[in-house]
Amino acid sequence: MKKHAIYPGSFDPLSNGHINLIERALPIFETVTVAIAVNARKKTVFSLEEREEMIKEVFKKNDRVIVESFEGLLVDYVTKKKTSIVIRGIRTNSDFEYELSFAQANRHLTPNFESVFMMTDPQYSYLSSSMIREIVGLGGSTRGMLPDFIEEALRKRLKSQKLSAK
Ligand code: COA
Repeated sequence: MKKHAIYPGSFDPLSNGHINLIERALPIFETVTVAIAVNARKKTVFSLEEREEMIKEVFKKNDRVIVESFEGLLVDYVTKKKTSIVIRGIRTNSDFEYELSFAQANRHLTPNFESVFMMTDPQYSYLSSSMIREIVGLGGSTRGMLPDFIEEALRKRLKSQKLSAK
């Protein structure tokens, strides 16, 4: 039976690494729900609504990609969605270490919680949203790391934040 995948994360912002993973999950799963976590401890550059709009824009031609947000525990959100599996990308060995305990903790919380791990394509293995934010914030080029319109929005946002901090 084909299942529905949930791809959770902060997506601040969505990168080409995330997009690559979603596109590769689509031939495997009926639908892929990109689930943006509301994390009060993580101060984000883009609001939840902005991140949701950006992801929807990228996948506007694919009605098998759904964008939602969730608050609280991932296991509670996943439990509400029937027949869902969580997908996670593994970029490096250290991701594996982290993902192992993340998956095990989630299975402790909900024994039928299942994850599927996909190896990130090598050209994205060093990417993270915070690295992208840092490069853009310091005036570097992130060409090829994220969609152009998101890079542009990030550049504008970080510039205006810098100006208002002066
Ligand atoms: N390509 C490029 N970048 C990737 C990537 C990929 N394939 N996979 C991950 N990344 C980046 C992310 O952008 C993120 O960058 P950042 O830390 O600079 O923002 C970083 O790698 C880590 O990714 P991830 O581990 O997915 O962190 P996240 O903050 O995006 O998402 C949640 C973490 C939301 C999945 C997790 O905190 C969660 O489930 N929270 C809900 C509460 C909960 O249940 N907690 C306890 C569970 S035991």
